[in-house]
Amino acid sequence: SALIAASRSSSFRTVAERAPVLRPIVDRFVAGDELDQAIANVRRLTEDRLVSLDHLGEDTTDRAQAERTVEAYRALLRTLGEQGLAERAEVSVKLSALGQALPVDGDKIALENTRQICAAAAAVGTTVTVDMEDHTTTDSTLSIVRELRVDFPWTGTVLQAYLKRTEADCREFAGPGSRIRLCKGAYDEPASVAYRDKSEVDASYVRCLKVLMAGEGYPMVATHDPRLVDIAEWLAMQHDRSAEDFEFQMLYGVRPEAQRDLAGRGMRLRAYVPYGTEWYPYFMRRLAERPANVAFFLRSFAGR
Ligand code: FDA
Repeated sequence: SALIAASRSSSFRTVAERAPVLRPIVDRFVAGDELDQAIANVRRLTEDRLVSLDHLGEDTTDRAQAERTVEAYRALLRTLGEQGLAERAEVSVKLSALGQALPVDGDKIALENTRQICAAAAAVGTTVTVDMEDHTTTDSTLSIVRELRVDFPWTGTVLQAYLKRTEADCREFAGPGSRIRLCKGAYDEPASVAYRDKSEVDASYVRCLKVLMAGEGYPMVATHDPRLVDIAEWLAMQHDRSAEDFEFQMLYGVRPEAQRDLAGRGMRLRAYVPYGTEWYPYFMRRLAERPANVAFFLRSFAGR
């Protein structure tokens, strides 16, 4: 909880961004500050796996900044097209980077901005997945995704197993053509809306996975948890899904050996690859997920 709170602190952010000693651990989770560094990593990764690229940024309250994010995605998608990578690389977007958090007409602006990104993706023959942020944005995000799917039916989104509502959302989004990335959830949510106990989150993940695997959509199983990976493979088999009918997803820098192993066994494995200078909140959520990361982080900060 403390790390998730720190991920929203501007003073911590300023200190962290100016600490060169952090760079090696940031580089483990972030594929570069610049697009060309990210593309070099994508070229290497796409030799054996698929990719979803995230231009880092979130929570903007500046309309011009949201428009710059659209431009960054346009440049990214153009590059994927020009370099022949669009077949194996799609993009992930955060609506809070695209205007959702603006005080006036936030939802409308985020919808229009994301529509432009979807059109740019369609032009090069790839897809877009809309990330899910904290629970106060879930209704808005799902209604924007419903609208996007009218013109771009392949638009994917994320559902978070730690939310008590998610099993019902999975039922709605398990229909033909849907692309749902199921993850555990990375924000610090209150017990009124979320399971807080790890075993309850895992049990919810399995219930949601059963709904998605039994459905007619394309499940995207986003977890590094080996037990859940095994359960997903077993459920896929039970529902006669071949390796093309679902995919696993893992984060850049997390369990890379498991990523190579799944890809080597002929499974579809997509790496989520974030890049850009706005790495701080994303990086703090990654630290919060694993105590060993925090110890490494503190040792780096102490300069030992
Ligand atoms: P769990 O946290 O139980 O980890 C299982 C094991 O994986 C750990 O024991 C460890 O070995 C390894 N591991 C996990 N995280 C690690 C880390 N940071 N560093 C090192 N090892 C780690 N969340 C969200 O709220 N909205 C979103 O849109 C997304 N999008 C998304 C996309 C993709 C492709 C993935 C894989 C994940 C997300 N997430 C997300 C994050 C997700 O909600 C969750 O916080 C992390 O995936 C960690 O949960 P696991 O399922 O891996 O299980």
